[in-house]
Amino acid sequence: MANVIAKFFGRFLVLNYKCDLDIEAISQILLKWYDFNARRLPWRKKSKNSPYHIWISEIMLQQTTVKAVIPRYKSFIRRWPNIKKLSLASIDEILHEWQGLGYYSRAHNIYKTAIIINSNYKGRFPKNTDSLKNLPGIGDYTAGAVASIAFSKPILPVDVNIERVLARINGVFKNEKNFKSKINNIAKLFYEPKRPGDLTQAFMDFGSIICKSNNPVCEICPLSKFCYSFKKKVVHLIPGQKNLLKKEKKYCVIFFIMNSKNEILFRKRKNAQILK
Ligand code: ADE
Repeated sequence: MANVIAKFFGRFLVLNYKCDLDIEAISQILLKWYDFNARRLPWRKKSKNSPYHIWISEIMLQQTTVKAVIPRYKSFIRRWPNIKKLSLASIDEILHEWQGLGYYSRAHNIYKTAIIINSNYKGRFPKNTDSLKNLPGIGDYTAGAVASIAFSKPILPVDVNIERVLARINGVFKNEKNFKSKINNIAKLFYEPKRPGDLTQAFMDFGSIICKSNNPVCEICPLSKFCYSFKKKVVHLIPGQKNLLKKEKKYCVIFFIMNSKNEILFRKRKNAQILK
């Protein structure tokens, strides 16, 4: 086990690694891999690399697959090509556009954030992650993604794909104590000053094309020589499952009212209720 002392923004992080972690080599290999293998996605067009486009795509991608998001993202951007136009939309128009994507609190938060950015920030996204995180619906991950991809801040946000790649390279199991903070500390070491947004997206694509959750393609993986789980033959066990307490099963009964014309009676729920 190698002890690594890494300097991060003037602070020293002491990390217990199961393998030697060559941040610079891993970053360069991933960036080179990305240059040849990046997915062509509508929010990645250079002209569209604006915080507005990145923000909308990241919110949509929070609970929805890339394949399902692509047509919905295009339709949303066609309708509201910038934050100014979006801030003039009504919540009902946004909810209608969101129909079928689910998790409608995302649409409510988009509406609130558009209004705040327009009124408090003169229509321009704040650049620092703390201000981004104060906006409705924007947490650590989304703030990091917008900051690195749209504003070139040297941050590696941690989504499930990135978490899996980092966990496998370093041999961190999900049921270990402090799994999340170990992964976050490793992510902080990936301080890429020249192409931070590309490195973020390289990790994402690498996680979904090579270092997949099921059937990862280690045979062609350019990072295998750095990878603890590959060397120890435990790739399929990492990250693994958290020790979950058995949850009590709950049952409910749903009624609906339908008339002879097959029309269904709906009642709009109030703000505080679930599935509003
Ligand atoms: N998943 C979450 N954010 C993504 C992005 N920007 N590109 C591809 N997949 C993603």
